[in-house]
Amino acid sequence: MRVLTGIQPSGDLHIGNYFGSIKQMVEAQSQSQTFAFIANYHAMTSVSDGKRLGELTMQCATDFLALGIDPEKSVFWVQSDVKEVLELYWILSSFTPMGLLERAHSYKDKTAKGFATNHSLFSYPVLMAADILLFGSDVVPVGKDQIQHVEIARDIAIKFNNQYGDILTIPEFRVQEEVATVPGIDGQKMSKSYGNIVNIFGQEKEQLKTIKKIVTENVALEEPKEFENCNVYSMAKLFLEGENLIALQERYKRGGEGHGHFKMYLAEVMWEYFRDFREKREYFEAHQDEVIEILKAGAAKARKIALPTIEKIRSVTGIKY
Ligand code: ADP
Ligand code: TRP
Repeated sequence: MRVLTGIQPSGDLHIGNYFGSIKQMVEAQSQSQTFAFIANYHAMTSVSDGKRLGELTMQCATDFLALGIDPEKSVFWVQSDVKEVLELYWILSSFTPMGLLERAHSYKDKTAKGFATNHSLFSYPVLMAADILLFGSDVVPVGKDQIQHVEIARDIAIKFNNQYGDILTIPEFRVQEEVATVPGIDGQKMSKSYGNIVNIFGQEKEQLKTIKKIVTENVALEEPKEFENCNVYSMAKLFLEGENLIALQERYKRGGEGHGHFKMYLAEVMWEYFRDFREKREYFEAHQDEVIEILKAGAAKARKIALPTIEKIRSVTGIKY
């Protein structure tokens, strides 16, 4: 079974990204054939500073390797290093009714928020379909916001196959229901675009400063506190298990401590949790040439896997004459 996912290099990775997506991908590596890529063409829809996009791409690759994407187990590459995806993107465009894209939530939301729209934002799901279909993906793990994009990829693949025969694999989405949405420091969904994130790889002091800003209830120090709906607890529980989690709940119930204490504790457990990842990150940060080599080798592997599919597509569509 082939599992594929992509992530846009459009900002710093946060703990919502880790628990909502990256951790699942890392765990899937031991059971399935996993494909992970950095969607830098997609990120062009929000990052227009060229130098910054290049830096964010390397940063994202470094972070992924540090967090456990293993190039021995996964095919790991940068989207733009396998250009066949753009060829397929164009070919699939002829099997994409305008209405299908006009109904896409992400496009409608951006238009409603008054973003200046352009063709890349509109055709974004077609490129995503090409990402998925080029590699014969069976399963695409995504957050809820991306389900519709995978459904669009399915619709396009079905239309293509109706015309040319059974060539494209029809993909399915997979949503990790049990991972609740990680809240941001303001209590809304944590998201780069809301400016409410807790970075995975921030500096210790900066991280503490951010954690201190988490919005909490106003309850006197000596009073018992509710942990269920507390933003600090919702983050801390991601890093704790068993006795340690119960102990934290007890501290809330007992009273005598303020949210400031719980925030300090959250900062400590989080710092500890990512310690090994941080060390690995320092290694890759100091060996960027190695990261580039890994990405290039990954792209070569990805292209080799894509080649029979794109050859078949060229042949049936008459592009290969
Ligand atoms: P952002 O909202 O910060 O831009 P992305 O849309 O790039 O994040 O999401 C990348 C991945 O991380 C997706 O699979 C998404 O489902 C997951 N993710 C993002 N934010 C959260 C969150 N707050 N809680 C759980 N998962 C999240
Ligand atoms: N659109 C996805 C996101 O914003 C990123 C992405 C691009 C992707 N191509 C993909 C995800 C293919 C899964 C499969 O999160």
